Amino acid sequence: MADVRVMKEKEQETEVNEAQIAVHWKEEQYFYPSSKFIGQAYLTDPAVDQRFSEKNFPECFREYADLLSWDQYWHTTLDTSDAPFWKWYAGGKLNASYNCIDRHLEQYRNKAAFVFVGEPEDVPPLSITYQELYYQVNEMAALLRDFGGLKAGDRVTIHMPVVPELPITMLACARLGVIHSVVFGGFSGEACGMRAADSGSKVLVTIDGYYRSGAMTDHKEKADIAVKTAKDEKHTIEKVLVWHREPGKYNSKTPMVEGRDFFVEDVLKKYAGQIVEPVPMPSEAPLFLMYTSGTTGRPKGCQHGTGGYLSYVAGTTKYIQDLHPTDVYWCMADIGWITGHSYIVYGPLALAATSVLYEGVPNYPDAGRPWRVAKRLNVNIFHTSPTAIRMLRKAGPDEPAKYDYHFKHMTTVGEPIEPEVWKWYHEVVGKGEAVIVDTWWQTETGGFLCSTKPAIDPMKPGSAGPALPGIYPVIFDEEGKEVKGGSGKAGNICIRNPWPGMFQTIYGDRDRFVAQYYRKYNKNPKSKDWRDWPYFAGDGAVQAPDGYFRILGRVDDVINVAGHRLGTKELESACLTVNEVAEAAVIPVVDEVKGRVPEVYVSLKPGQHNATAVSEAVTKAIEHQIGKIARPKKVHVVPDMPKTRSGKIMRRVLAAISNQMDTGDVTTLANPDVVEQIRVMVQGNRPVITKDVPEDVKRFGEER
Ligand code: WTA
Repeated sequence: MADVRVMKEKEQETEVNEAQIAVHWKEEQYFYPSSKFIGQAYLTDPAVDQRFSEKNFPECFREYADLLSWDQYWHTTLDTSDAPFWKWYAGGKLNASYNCIDRHLEQYRNKAAFVFVGEPEDVPPLSITYQELYYQVNEMAALLRDFGGLKAGDRVTIHMPVVPELPITMLACARLGVIHSVVFGGFSGEACGMRAADSGSKVLVTIDGYYRSGAMTDHKEKADIAVKTAKDEKHTIEKVLVWHREPGKYNSKTPMVEGRDFFVEDVLKKYAGQIVEPVPMPSEAPLFLMYTSGTTGRPKGCQHGTGGYLSYVAGTTKYIQDLHPTDVYWCMADIGWITGHSYIVYGPLALAATSVLYEGVPNYPDAGRPWRVAKRLNVNIFHTSPTAIRMLRKAGPDEPAKYDYHFKHMTTVGEPIEPEVWKWYHEVVGKGEAVIVDTWWQTETGGFLCSTKPAIDPMKPGSAGPALPGIYPVIFDEEGKEVKGGSGKAGNICIRNPWPGMFQTIYGDRDRFVAQYYRKYNKNPKSKDWRDWPYFAGDGAVQAPDGYFRILGRVDDVINVAGHRLGTKELESACLTVNEVAEAAVIPVVDEVKGRVPEVYVSLKPGQHNATAVSEAVTKAIEHQIGKIARPKKVHVVPDMPKTRSGKIMRRVLAAISNQMDTGDVTTLANPDVVEQIRVMVQGNRPVITKDVPEDVKRFGEER
């Protein structure tokens, strides 16, 4: 009996180790949007797919750019002369801040642009009208220009939580053509300092503190660490501008450094009422950098341009989010990630929408909080991640029914969503009324790539849906052969064509950009024809017979923790800063709420060591260098790492052990005995085999 089971497992192992892996999953039934939703939707004409078909490419994307106001209209929709560094709307000029604020004033001056909900529930929400936003962005722009000494093309690092001063600072930068680089507030001072140094930011904008899970966190202390880390990287941050979370009160124990640190509140007085003309920027001028984790080495600064990016987020917010100026829209993501940039700030504001900003954690003080916010603000479009949905479902499965709110539309993003979780989202959160879009995309892609068109395509739980208009995906196997839809096989999802939201380059590293995203499937590096440059997304996917794409997860060394991308290399190098550690390997384990969480294996240098103390030091090192989101579930101190004969650490074997899987054939390793020792250490004496291990975990660390 046992042997048969092992053989079956082995068969499966060999199957998944092939480039084209078989994927067994049940086809779910379709769900349909209500006629009420369809009746009010922006996009109801199925001919949109023809309009955006390949024969109309790239001119079809004129439609998105025409949603914006241009200071100078462009002459070339897509310039491919420097392939694969695409230029969208070449020759055009525009300003992002003008497009998000000024042009709405005439019609929407007194409509809320943002409604800010702080975490403490006893303080009422704060509405900021377009008129008020205009005022505050202009003053901050004047400050950045005249006090910060910043001009178009300079970079500024912003390390802040979700408070109105964050988008105000971003839009002030955009007004000047200054490139902002927002670092997620939960990242550590070190992580911030590394990114500030990489981007060459002379100014760091931060805040004294903010509310998180019921407590005020000291945030300014991270700025001091960031400045020091940047200095170690041979970069000087000259000025640190500190916003106040609460006017007139300093919520940090860290002293202000004379001549370096300045309270925005104080300096801003000098610029009261000043108006700064928005600087018309070339379409391809960078708007911002967003650092993200990749396969190798340090985080990379994804550089997004102005005209292409803003057009794409405006177009997709309109058609996929179905966001009208009369809607109240709440995206619960953090602005420090791409979702927040595209779908809290730039997309919604480009369309004159009302966008809700929420400072805190979703379940503070209890799992009813989001639904109270929804009711009080009359939110009708809701946007969040599978991790948040799983968390809210676990903490309060019956909470939504207690509150009288009604969503017309809901979004999920960031990770694959399990069909059961999807159904809870639909039935309980959406009360069976809301249409759902499961949007697949990435930091690099600027905006959505796959999703149902909410009033046109039926929904299918667990499946992102077809490609967006003007996006032509293809699934390739490792050899570059196309894996056909409906074949039941998975492979690497690629996008055959450029699109306006696509990032421009990795900041300061053109070679890495080409190597990481294009080299794998490019046949002719000299070609200027976009057809020769499929974009390699780094995700595994399978296409069903109906053309819908199901995303299986990363195919590289990236771990998606609660929808946040962490590079295993970054975590491993943090472990190696602990003196006793000789080698480190980080692998993903399946987690009920967060999707995946990292688990760490370390082997130690010779000598007497206290394993518990080392484990604690490793956890601390990770929290310190990256942030609490990267905290490992467990740290295993092992006698040695399983290695190939050429000395490569077999992360796949460790991932199998941590996920209660069979390790497969390890006899070809240099040290097969170690595998058994580690297995007994971690799994105990009984080999447990979990069914339905997700593909990304099964394939993790595979040599490719
Ligand atoms: C994953 C977040 C399944 C995917 C916008 C991708 C998803 C990575 C989905 C990008 C989805 C994002 N279904 N997986 N709807 N959306 N992913 O850069 O693995 O933080 O490559 O951008 O998240 O994460 P990033």
